[in-house]
Formats: sequence, structure tokens, C-alpha cells
Amino acid sequence: MKISINKAKKTLLGNRRRGYTLPTNNKLYPAQWNWDSGFIALGYSYFNLNFALKEINTLLDGQWKDGMVPHILFHNTKTNYYPNYTAWNCGNKIHSSGITQPPILATILKEILNKNEINKTQLLNIKKIIKKINKFHEWFIQFRDPKKTGLVSILHPWESGYDNSPLWDDPMNKVKIEKNIKYKRADNKVVNPDFRPLDIDYDRYVTIKNNLRKLKYNPKKVYKSSFFNVVDVGFNSIFLKANKDLVTLLDRFGLNKKKIENYIKATEKNFLKLYDKKRKTFFSKDIKNKKKIFIPSITNYFLLFADLNNDKINKILIQNLKKHNLKEKYFFSSIKSNHKSFEEKRYWRGPVWINCNWFIYKGLKNKDRLFSNKIRNKTIQILEKKGFFEYFSCKNGKPMGAKNFSWSAALYLDLKLNKN
Ligand code: GLC
Repeated sequence: MKISINKAKKTLLGNRRRGYTLPTNNKLYPAQWNWDSGFIALGYSYFNLNFALKEINTLLDGQWKDGMVPHILFHNTKTNYYPNYTAWNCGNKIHSSGITQPPILATILKEILNKNEINKTQLLNIKKIIKKINKFHEWFIQFRDPKKTGLVSILHPWESGYDNSPLWDDPMNKVKIEKNIKYKRADNKVVNPDFRPLDIDYDRYVTIKNNLRKLKYNPKKVYKSSFFNVVDVGFNSIFLKANKDLVTLLDRFGLNKKKIENYIKATEKNFLKLYDKKRKTFFSKDIKNKKKIFIPSITNYFLLFADLNNDKINKILIQNLKKHNLKEKYFFSSIKSNHKSFEEKRYWRGPVWINCNWFIYKGLKNKDRLFSNKIRNKTIQILEKKGFFEYFSCKNGKPMGAKNFSWSAALYLDLKLNKN
């Protein structure tokens, strides 16, 4: 056990650059990623609180004036990553992408505050961080939910963090690929192309991105004009939880929490409109094409993490979750294995992801302790047996994607060392 804890720490430190940490030390992701940094900060908080706060501060240094925190910050511009900083052509102070990722910082910060002794300088720093996170959440509320529905939209599959999930297949099929599209991907040269998205998917990702760029990423325009606009269950669950945690933080630091509190009320109420009583499942909504999306994605169970104030629904979710992986040795598969879109190896279309297990484990802790412990133990087991890889086969545990993957190491530390 000790070996693995030391290895996890070493993995994070090995991926650390100046004030931020790469998702992995190979060439696949040579920049700072938004939600990766959140998980990574939580990992650092078990052995170096200053590194944890620095990770978050560096990410927030890239915050745009309107409040958005980009999904990628290109601190180092000399890499062969695509789309690189010139392909995005935007950023405030730091070159960045022009879209965002799941907002987990409030949740992470609350976790960190709960278990650490904080000195005065750190407290002052944390107050500044909270104000920036608040601005980020207000940006979501203002620009990603202009009709005030209590639920926010993502405007590119990459914003979800589960980039090529089958959740996006229908809305993506509607995207007309730009004529004469030209670009050079690097991801499928670094890892096995069977594990990565298909070229046709990539063409569409780039088409959506180029359109956002044409609109100069203007938050007032993109909601309406993006080729992709989806209200996703998983994403909104993470946002709801983050809003709840943000209220706690604002309260603790004597900051105004009214706006976020009101938004939480609207979310709690309107989430239920995404529930299909007959099928007993939640669906995401393709706003662009006015269609419901029913895909048995593990991300739908992030609702447990959101702590929806509805015991009946939570019970149904748990019952369904217990049926998500009846046959597989390792869980949770990102997509239910009997679904037609399931692929054992292609990323986000089947494999087990440590962060998904982590969200669900956390969500279940106060609802089904036995089951949550089982998830925790199984997740720890796979990491100790196979190493800190990016994702794993649910059939045989085969590790895939990048090795020395930061969030796998960081969340291992939390699963192992969190005493709460
Ligand atoms: C992939 C994942 C995304 C992650 C990034 C860096 O793009 O889909 O969730 O943030 O890699 O690890």
C-alpha cells in the first residue's frame, strides 16, 4: 500500500511543471487541463497544500475577463498538440482554448478546506480563489442558461470532459463538416488509434471549434449559434454539486450567496423535467435539434453526487446503477455493455474511468455506505494492480490510453487517505 501511495505522489510530481501539472507525462496532453487540475489539486492536498493551491491559482490565472475558465491553458506553446494555441487563437494573459470544462473547483476546494489546517496567508489566497470561482459560476448562469431554466448547456462535446461519449452521437451526426477542412491530429500517433476518436468525429470537433472561433467566442452569440448545444445530465449534476459547495464556501468567507442559492432552487426543480417516468431514467437534451438523448452512460449517475433533494429518485438511481455492470469484472463501464454504442477500448465509449467511479463513490457515501465502499475498494484494487493509467477495460482490466495519468494518481490518494 505504501508503495502505491508513494508512486501516486511521484506520478503527480513527475508531471508537475511550473505551477501546474500535465495530465500525463507523455506527449498526449502537453498543457494544463481544467478539470484535471481540480482532481490533481485534491491529490496534492494530501502532501503539499501549497502545490494544491498553486495548481488552482495557475488555472484561474487563465480565467477570461467574462468569467470563463478555459478547458486548456497552453503554458508551453512549443508542442505538437492539435488544436494548439494558434488553432484556438484566444486567451486572456495565457493562451487558451475557447471553451470550458466541468466546474469542479468549488467542490475540490471545499474538500481541501475540510481536512487541512489553513494558515492566514493561505486563507487570504483562498478568499480570492472563491471570488474567481463565483465569477465562473455566474458566467455559466448568465451565458449558458440565458432562458433561466436552472440547467446549463455545453456547446462542444469537449466541454463535457467525456469527449467522444455516445451521448453526443446524434447531435454530432447533425454537424455538417466544414468544406476543405484541414488540420493534423497528433493524439492518434501517440497512443493506439483504436483507443481514440475516429477521424469523422475529429472533423466535427474541429468544425464546431472553427465556428466558435468565427464568432470570436462571444458568450452572447455562441449559445444560439454553436453547431452543438446540449443540456447534459452529468455536467449539470457536477454544476449543481459545485453550486452547493460554493454556497458553503461563500458563507464561510462572508460573501454574498443569494444568487447561487436561487439558482440551486431552480436546478433542483427543473432537473426532474429530465426524468422519464416510464423508463425510470434521466435523459439529456439536445437543445439544438430539440431531441431527447437516452444513452446508458455512467455519467447520468453523477446525479447521485449532486445530492438531489429527492429520496425517491435517488433510490431508483441506485437500483439502476446496481444493474449497470452485472457481467463485467471491473466497473463502472462508461457505457452499459449491452448497448449498441458500447466499445470496450475506445475512450469514453466503454472503458472504466477513475474520475467517474470517484464521483459515484462520493455520491453514494451518504446513501448506500456498503455499495460506496465496494466501489471504493474495487477502484483502489484496479489501480494497485494495473497502475495509474488513463482508463481500463471493464472486461479484463487491461490498462489503456496514457500511463502515469495524473487524475488516476490524485484520486487514488483521495480514495485511500480521505478519512471522512
Ligand atoms: C481527454 C479527456 C478529458 C481530459 C483530457 C486531459 O481529452 O476526454 O476529459 O480533461 O483528456 O486529460
